[in-house]
Amino acid sequence: MLIRMANGWELPDSAVTPEAAWLDRRTLMRGAAAGSILAAGSPFAGAVAAVDDPSAHLYPAKRNGEYSVEREITPEAVATTFNNFYEFGSSKDIWREAQAQPLRPWQVRIDGLVEQPKTLDIDELLQRVALEERVYRHRCVERWSMVAPWTGFPMRALVEMAAPLSSAKYVRMESYFDANLVPRNMRIYPWPYVEGLTIAEATNELAFLVTGAYGKPLEKQNGAPLRLAAPWKYGFKSGKSLVRFSFTDERPENFWQTVNAREYGFWANVNPDVAHPRWSQKIETELHTGEKLPTSLYNGYGPWVADLYSGMSGEQLFV
Ligand code: MTE
Repeated sequence: MLIRMANGWELPDSAVTPEAAWLDRRTLMRGAAAGSILAAGSPFAGAVAAVDDPSAHLYPAKRNGEYSVEREITPEAVATTFNNFYEFGSSKDIWREAQAQPLRPWQVRIDGLVEQPKTLDIDELLQRVALEERVYRHRCVERWSMVAPWTGFPMRALVEMAAPLSSAKYVRMESYFDANLVPRNMRIYPWPYVEGLTIAEATNELAFLVTGAYGKPLEKQNGAPLRLAAPWKYGFKSGKSLVRFSFTDERPENFWQTVNAREYGFWANVNPDVAHPRWSQKIETELHTGEKLPTSLYNGYGPWVADLYSGMSGEQLFV
């Protein structure tokens, strides 16, 4: 199904996240980082402080130094107020709306080509894994980038719990969807948000299931209580608020492919030399400084992942 929409990424290049808006936002966020709008009682303070989360005692987790990044960590106030979460609207400014996202009860369904389908409660899942912090780059296909200290656990641990059959080649991930929470103008989209990885990608050590950030449980607008971070791929591959992992022998069609198959594909590995049909991918804009920086192949994670794609020359690996 190809849906035509004059919305978000469907807009011409010049209309995608106008840079002037970022710049205004940066000024605001500098203020936020300095504490001026973080005063107790402001609505912003409510969004940043994770309250009533039964997993709060698990944070902060110890940082794993293997995944350091030479760039500065994006201030929390920026990473939690400039978001893509289309379930709540197509603007970047949906953090207030995203507060409607429920966090508990939260069940994660594991099904498809597995030894035994199962449903795990998020708090039971959190008991069964060892949380760690990893500082990862994040590169959106729209050309903005940030560096976030995510807390979570390797996706490999979840794949092991799932015990997929040898016939399983892919894992399809589904995000939470409640039609009542989606604004009227967003109901035309092909919900739920779906993404997929190969089993080899999902078990690569970089694939990280995120439950927290900045030393606290994850904010709702960043995809609480469980999201993916696959930092060598464009950000849309990292689905938020995940509720279902289905193991399959068929390559899953992802949300953005369904919306616009001419522009978005399955692999979506970061590559500065392969342009998006409507813009170059050579440069990215660092969210909190507005600085233009060169984009790296696999977002700088080639040593971890390049081998996954050797010999796949017939595939559109970078779309
Ligand atoms: N997951 C869901 N369910 N819905 C979304 O709209 N947007 C994706 C990804 N995961 C999205 C999603 C895109 S395009 C990006 S760049 C990242 O989330 C943004 O993550 P952040 O808001 O935490 O920076």
